[in-house]
Amino acid sequence: MEKKDHMIDKLVSLAKRRGFVFPSSEIYGGFAAIYDYGHYGILLKNNIQQAWWKHMVQLRDDVLGLDSAIFMHPKTWVASGHVGGFDDPQVDCRKCKTRMRADHLLEAFDINADKAPIEYINQELDKLKTEGKLKCVNCGSTDLTPAKQFSLMVKSNIGSPTDALTEENVVYLRPETCGGIYLEYKNIVDSLHPKLPFGIAQVGKAFRNEIIARQFIFRTREFEQMEMQYFLHPSQMEESYEMWHQARWNWYLKYGIPEDKLMWHKHDKLAHYASQAYDIEFNFRSLGGFKEVEGIHARGDWDLSQHAKYSGVTLDYYDQEKNERFIPHIMETSVGLNRLVLMFLDNAYTEEEVDGEVRTVLKFDKRLAPIKIAVFPLLKNRPELVEKARGLYEALREDWMTEFDDSGNIGKRYRRQDEIGTPYCITVDFDSLEDDTVTVRDRDTMEQKRIKIDELKTFFTENL
Ligand code: GAP
Repeated sequence: MEKKDHMIDKLVSLAKRRGFVFPSSEIYGGFAAIYDYGHYGILLKNNIQQAWWKHMVQLRDDVLGLDSAIFMHPKTWVASGHVGGFDDPQVDCRKCKTRMRADHLLEAFDINADKAPIEYINQELDKLKTEGKLKCVNCGSTDLTPAKQFSLMVKSNIGSPTDALTEENVVYLRPETCGGIYLEYKNIVDSLHPKLPFGIAQVGKAFRNEIIARQFIFRTREFEQMEMQYFLHPSQMEESYEMWHQARWNWYLKYGIPEDKLMWHKHDKLAHYASQAYDIEFNFRSLGGFKEVEGIHARGDWDLSQHAKYSGVTLDYYDQEKNERFIPHIMETSVGLNRLVLMFLDNAYTEEEVDGEVRTVLKFDKRLAPIKIAVFPLLKNRPELVEKARGLYEALREDWMTEFDDSGNIGKRYRRQDEIGTPYCITVDFDSLEDDTVTVRDRDTMEQKRIKIDELKTFFTENL
């Protein structure tokens, strides 16, 4: 395995240099744990999102789509237990002011403090302090504060004449997208009449005041989630859980993630809403091992019961056939879109030696590649080649994300496309003017073959 720091540096550098991901607000000195996505980054992210949507909504009879607002009635987050309960334990270094997750510090000593009470965390930290083992991850100082709970909720105000965030005017930026799904459950049942079990899926922004902000786009304060909430009768939980376990695992395999880079992790300590939770973990070369990418949680009837209680509106389901009324239970699949961008970059990043030089290539699954085809005229200063190549480019871009490139020599153009993961490069040369064929070069094998221009659409339809 490549050295961790080395690999993350390479990914961060490639992502910035080639316009995938930029640190936010760089001209103002940066803004911790927030990132912007450039041209290739947004194309990759959109392709991952569409691949998720295809398998979660388009190919299913039992899942409906939703796009709910980021802002919701503030009571939403009191009912859900996030206000007052969605905290991480934080320790500060008195010397260099680095902020650390106390549970992560303990994890390094094989002490599991995930969701543990603050008293337990401080007791374990004190033991390590006494033994002189507890050190700042940044400067190595042993002068650390005790742990205190730190709310992950990001606050704002809306429609208020004052800037003060008092209890009366505070609104929260949603910490998970599923809140909107629970609030729209009733409208969806009343308008579309889905039969249980059914799911509601949505993709959108979520916000958390994360303490740790040193893992590139793995953990950020503004991020996107792709969540699906599956509403069911409690008797359907086991079967549905099994079905979604399999479906989600297979999704990763379908998009080129090798099975030996994936692992299930069962949670012993659960979030306040969950009765059962598994994560899918991916073995990140850039982060030095297996880390969570997706959670699959059995949430029981917690969410709908709480919202029914706090809103005073009945949120049960009437099963006409059985003449039974009950609050549906929920199981969810929840994955971070930005985290998947990092996963697919990490998995695709390849260095190969070709003719004594290092070739850097992103070997994405072709369906996820930001640009599918690049078209080059062999020479920039021959108008007849440029014109033919541009005509081909304009025809192909109707169906695929295509780039035209006439700068530098062909070798350099190939390297540029390899670095952004473009599966096919087409060169229009002098033979093309005679026989209407072009050279098509494959990203992974670097093999080149001649294909007739009027057969290109069929070729790409079959291969992309
Ligand atoms: N609705 C359930 C929920 O939000 P979670 O385990 O807190 O559960 C689900 O989050 C997924 O969202 C994670 O597996 C991860 O992929 C993504 N995620 C969570 N916090 C994130 C953050 N700060 N930055 C990027 N992705 C995050």
